[in-house]
Amino acid sequence: MAALRFSASDPQKFSGKRTDCAILPVGSKLKLDDAGKALAKESAGVMDAALKSGEFSGNVGQTLLVHCPGPAARILMVGVGEGKLERSDYLKISSALARALLASKASDAQMHLGTLKVSGGDWEWFCQRIATDLVYHGYRYALTLSKPKAPPALSRFVLLSDDAAMTRQAKSALNRGAQAGAGINLARELADTPANYCTPEHLAKEARKLARGNDKASCKVLNEKAMAELGMHSLLSVTAGTATPAKLIVLEYKGGKRGNAPHVLVGKGITFDSGGISLKPGAKMDEMKFDMGGAASVLGTMQAVMDMALPLNVVAIIAAAENMPSGTATKPGDVVTSMAGITIEILNTDAEGRLVLCDALTYAERFKPASVVDIATLTGACVVALGSHASGLYANNEDLAEQLLEAGTTSHDRAWRMPLWDDYQKQLDSNFADLGNIGGPGGGSVTAACFLSRFATKYNWAHLDIAGSAWDSAPKGATGRPVGLLTQYLCDRAAGG
Ligand code: BES
Ligand code: MN
Ligand code: ZN
Repeated sequence: MAALRFSASDPQKFSGKRTDCAILPVGSKLKLDDAGKALAKESAGVMDAALKSGEFSGNVGQTLLVHCPGPAARILMVGVGEGKLERSDYLKISSALARALLASKASDAQMHLGTLKVSGGDWEWFCQRIATDLVYHGYRYALTLSKPKAPPALSRFVLLSDDAAMTRQAKSALNRGAQAGAGINLARELADTPANYCTPEHLAKEARKLARGNDKASCKVLNEKAMAELGMHSLLSVTAGTATPAKLIVLEYKGGKRGNAPHVLVGKGITFDSGGISLKPGAKMDEMKFDMGGAASVLGTMQAVMDMALPLNVVAIIAAAENMPSGTATKPGDVVTSMAGITIEILNTDAEGRLVLCDALTYAERFKPASVVDIATLTGACVVALGSHASGLYANNEDLAEQLLEAGTTSHDRAWRMPLWDDYQKQLDSNFADLGNIGGPGGGSVTAACFLSRFATKYNWAHLDIAGSAWDSAPKGATGRPVGLLTQYLCDRAAGG
């Protein structure tokens, strides 16, 4: 989708003016409000016929698109049911509207608020949601297709409301929603990109590009030599089997006051996870190109935060490497020393995410952070536990956990709290090192998080296991999660929460 512009306005300014598509919320009693009646009149019977046909029930999320002779070339009716709507209803309405509108050839649209009453702060939330959905559903993967699908035609969306205060709020909410949507789509595109294109260097390029576009941002990329000097031998053990160089990418955004402690996001950036010597089975191994989904979500969030010009200091750290078997690869049983000085027995080279993250978490200490959140497609066990609906959330601080859970609810990019009890920590004991890198068959997502917790001791820390939430298997594609959650979390911090 080319640039999609959003605005909000008084309906008077648009009444009787030509549009490719007028959008009208209609309740299940099919009674039209004033805006609806005016549209029905202009449509010369088309709308009345459609309503009489029985094809449209007005139930939440149902849509019907009709072509008309009037100044509105199309009218898209969107069912909003009857009575009080829950947030889940608004989510259905927003995504149905976005899908139906983008499936048409309309290049501009005007949405009448009409009978769709959203009370209090929910109004802004709903506007934001509509914009995010319109941008989200406009995503088309194109990079490696010789004949990419045409992007949607929509380039302008206007929300019409006769309440001046609401119109003002709607404008900024629509823009924020679009910025969040663009961040989500950046994450999707990076995670969808095949591993022979999306290498650690490719991620570094994307980070540098983001830094170039914002004068409050800067980017530093550490190569393997610099990492070795820092003692990051855990991270380096993962890249030992591949010819593709690993990178530690540090992208800093200083939108806040000088000296204010930054929020740090740490992303797992395994651009391909073959498992290494502990080779994965062949089926679905292609999907391990998205093992940099955490890194992608960090970059998507950084883009959104910078586009929103949030008054916050934010640091992104991405541990980017490829996990491959070869004669130089790390072997099961090898012991390495991490940057923190903790020795690790690598019992399974497929548990590589925690090996790159632990050094990145130690590196994060130098920023004296307000919070550190790491995001990782860390364990298949998390997919077993939570499926794809929730990211697994672990935290060593209750407030941080609450803030992330709440941001997940608001953005409908939800997380579910998991335990970090000492009882699980024992599973990481090793006879030959301070820690083993796997914790046995039970509680695989928990023991992976326990491993990370040993390195996140100097700050408030949370970990999101996104192995299930970041990827859709059918149709195959990245979801862009948890950019929605992270962006909301940082917006909330910027608002003083
Ligand atoms: N990247 C995988 C986790 C994963 C699996 C993500 C499926 C998405 C879908 C991770 O590096 C991994 O291989 N984890 C192992 C850990 C095990 C060896 C302790 C796993 O989950 O099997
Ligand atoms: Mn693995
Ligand atoms: Zn992995």
